[in-house]
Amino acid sequence: MKTTADNQSPAHTPHPVLDDYYEDSDHRREYVSTLFDDTAKYYEWIIRAMSFGSGEWYRKSALRRIKLAEGMKMLDVATGTGPVARSAREIVGKKGEVYGLDRSINMLGESARQGDTPLIHAGAEYLPFPDNYFDVLTMGYALRHVDSLQATFEEYGRVVKPGGTVLILEVTRPATRLGFWLTKFYFRVIIPAISAIFTRDKRAGELMRYYWDTIEQCVPPEKILTAMTGAGLKNAKRYRVFGIFSEYTATK
Ligand SMILES: C[S@@+](CC[C@H](N)C(=O)[O-])C[C@H]1O[C@@H](n2cnc3c(N)ncnc32)[C@H](O)[C@@H]1O
Repeated sequence: MKTTADNQSPAHTPHPVLDDYYEDSDHRREYVSTLFDDTAKYYEWIIRAMSFGSGEWYRKSALRRIKLAEGMKMLDVATGTGPVARSAREIVGKKGEVYGLDRSINMLGESARQGDTPLIHAGAEYLPFPDNYFDVLTMGYALRHVDSLQATFEEYGRVVKPGGTVLILEVTRPATRLGFWLTKFYFRVIIPAISAIFTRDKRAGELMRYYWDTIEQCVPPEKILTAMTGAGLKNAKRYRVFGIFSEYTATK
């Protein structure tokens, strides 16, 4: 995977420029939005295939671990087709509120087809909500795509209530050599091939190759925790599941 040296670490970006996909950091945002817009119709199918159907179960267990409870108000940033938001709505019940926000209009369209979660078209770096508004803010598998970790976490800290919780779900490259190569083979070869063959669309394969390449090139977990703390969030922690799933949590 080619990366551009002079863009190795523009302040606070989650990964360097990936030359195979877009020219420079100015084009990254547009590339990501277009990629998700073009593949939104396949996303639910791909995540079910990739996780053998356990995706929503896992997302719900992560929400229970942070003690999301009935009656709470939650924002799911980068909601995509809505799997985290749907699980959250089952937990918060009718007395609670869950909003979904995303930069891809087609992902929001797919989410709207799956349920009636209130949806907002916006980016993680600017949230159109007042200060101290949510008990919980979540982001599932999208931190790698934000413009700036620092700006994003500052914004999360602004909209969460004092005492509220931020939960980031991510996939992290395994620390062991064997784990790394096995995971890379699965995510970089098997999943893109299955996605492209079954959807008959090369863009679905590209989405999943990009998915892995951003995982491989992402800054290490310590940098994510440091960015959370640097943005004023407290008790930043990482909980690992099966060596590759990371649940980053922090409170305000
Ligand atoms: C891999 S999907 C994750 C969807 C969902 N959260 C899940 O758990 O499966 C990533 C989503 O992040 C969105 N996204 C990427 N960058 C974003 C940003 N800066 N702000 C808001 N949404 C963003 C994409 O449009 C896409 O819908």
